[in-house]
Amino acid sequence: MSAASPLTPHASPVITIDGPSASGKGTVAERVAMALGFHFLDSGALYRLTALAAMKQGVALDDAPHIAELAACLPATFRDGSVWLAGENVTDAIRAEAVGEGASNVAALPAVRAALLDRQRAYRQLPGLVADGRDMGTVVFADAAAKVFLTASAEARAERRYKQLIEKGNSASLTDLVADMQARDARDTTRAVAPLKPAPDALLLDTTHMDIESAVRAVLAHYAACRIQNQQGH
Ligand code: DC
Repeated sequence: MSAASPLTPHASPVITIDGPSASGKGTVAERVAMALGFHFLDSGALYRLTALAAMKQGVALDDAPHIAELAACLPATFRDGSVWLAGENVTDAIRAEAVGEGASNVAALPAVRAALLDRQRAYRQLPGLVADGRDMGTVVFADAAAKVFLTASAEARAERRYKQLIEKGNSASLTDLVADMQARDARDTTRAVAPLKPAPDALLLDTTHMDIESAVRAVLAHYAACRIQNQQGH
């Protein structure tokens, strides 16, 4: 893939949707991608896969060089809504809370973030890409056509995660989930490299009292407005 100059707009538009855990950004991003016929990148899945690969191989989650090596050559594929690691279907395994914790730890390692950069950028293909994560608008696709930062209160996010866990037949404690959510937010927002924060040009969307459909509509309207603005500016 040829790299575009920072001054020339890239031919393939990107919409970035960043935000904290369980803010609903994954679902919103997937639906926006579907509505536009765009590709979809769940960047968190790459950090989760890296953590899972390390856990399976017994690699310590702070062994940066070793984990960066794993991240650089992750034998991962995404197919028909399923995620595969070295031929094993890990769609559910990467969603486990322990793997989410592990992902948050390995995501704080600069060498791991660097190792995943090219892999994420390779998803930028015509007709366009919707990328969801923490640093999509600030680092990975800083020249995105439209950026959104999706938030919701820690309580609302914990409640959403609680419902998902109960629906899947797991036991869960709402109090523990709120505490986990706050701890993960703290780690993701205070890390030295690519911390979770809105890009200066991102639309802030608080979904505490908003359903998925309204959030999808707001993102699509923002993208349409950005396109008109870009056309007028060029
Ligand atoms: O979005 P998620 O919950 O699947 O992400 C899992 C972890 O990966 C999360 O704790 C933060 C990290 N992450 C990141 O640092 N940068 C991204 N672009 C995506 C996820």
